[in-house]
Amino acid sequence: MKWFTRTLLITLALSVPATAVQADGHLGKAVKARKAYMQLLAFNLGQLGAMAKGKAPYDAGQATLFATNLQLATQMNNSAMWPEGTDNAAMPGKTRALPVAWEAWPEIGNKNKELAIAAGTLAATAAEGLEILQAGVRGVGKTCRSCHKKFRAPKKKK
Ligand code: HEC
Repeated sequence: MKWFTRTLLITLALSVPATAVQADGHLGKAVKARKAYMQLLAFNLGQLGAMAKGKAPYDAGQATLFATNLQLATQMNNSAMWPEGTDNAAMPGKTRALPVAWEAWPEIGNKNKELAIAAGTLAATAAEGLEILQAGVRGVGKTCRSCHKKFRAPKKKK
C-alpha cells in the first residue's frame, strides 16, 4: 500500500508539469506574452481614454505618466512574440491572430511602428491640455484599430 501511494505520487508529480508544458510550450508562451503586451497597451490607453471622455478628471501629470508607459511599451522589440505557427488556424481557440499577419509580413511590423509614432506624439503632448490629449488618444486608437481590422479575428459571440 505504501509503495502504491508513493508510486502514485511520483507519477502525479511527473505527469502534471509534463501536461503543463504540452499545453503551454514555446508557442503558447509567445501567444500569452503578446496578449499580455496588448493588455498593457489597453490598460494605459484605457486610463487616458477615461480622461479624454471626461470619465476621469484631466490631470497633466497622470496623463503624461500613462502616455509615457504606453510609448515605452511600444518601443519594445516584441518580434519574438510572433513566431510562425501561432495564428488562429494553427492554434484554434488559443489566439485571434489571423494567418494573414504572417503572409503579409512585415506589414504588421509597420503597423506597430505607426502605433509607436502615435504613442510618441501622445506622450509628448499629453500635458498640453484636455483637447490635445483627446486628439492624441484618437490618433493612437486609430493605429490600434487599423491593425486589429486586418490582423485580428473578430471576437466569437458567446
Ligand atoms: C501591430 C498590430 C497591432 C497593433 C498596433 C495593436 N494590436 Fe492589439 N492585437 C493585435 C493582434 C494580432 C491581436 C490578437 C493576439 C492574439 O490573440 O494572439 C491583438 C489583441 C489585442 C487585445 C486582446 C488581448 C487578449 O488578452 O486576448 C487587446 C486588448 C488589444 N489587442 C489592445 C490593443 C490596443 C489598446 C492597441 C493600441 C494601443 C493595440 N492593441 C494595438 C494586433 C495589434
